[in-house]
Amino acid sequence: TNRTFTMIKPDAVAEGNSGAIIKMIEEAGFRIVAVKKFQLTKDRAGEFYAVHSARPFYNDLCAYMSSGPIIPMILEKENAVADFRKLIGATNPAQAEEGTIRKLFAKSIEANAIHGSDSDENAKIEGDFFFAGVEQF
Ligand code: GTP
Ligand code: MG
Repeated sequence: TNRTFTMIKPDAVAEGNSGAIIKMIEEAGFRIVAVKKFQLTKDRAGEFYAVHSARPFYNDLCAYMSSGPIIPMILEKENAVADFRKLIGATNPAQAEEGTIRKLFAKSIEANAIHGSDSDENAKIEGDFFFAGVEQF
């Protein structure tokens, strides 16, 4: 078993889709290790997405990610990172496969409903960005 990190993004939380998304995540076999509701400042969003700081969409992305509450979670499952990326679908919902979370709930390439870590290493870094050790179980 290993872990991944996810956030339900502001668009999906604001539209009341977090319950449906969490249900899909649990039905796909992921166990919730840690969860909370939280609003990032624009600066903290910028730190989280620092890897994209040179991209043209960086400023918009940080504004969007701090525009309302998110639901960060640490999840556990065998092959967690890859299986979760499959469950959420492509970054651009227009290219996401049928039945994926982004196909069902994302509005645009930016407001795309959910995040999923892209490696085991980043899953650990991102989970620790939001949760203290005593919050993870
Ligand atoms: P995350 O799970 O959120 O990291 O998405 P990803 O790994 O599928 O995509 P990536 O890491 O490349 O981009 C991070 C986030 O930036 C995306 O989820 C989008 O919210 C946003 N983003 C990516 N590409 C674009 C783009 O071309 N335009 C805009 N406006 N936003 C983008
Ligand atoms: Mg990414």
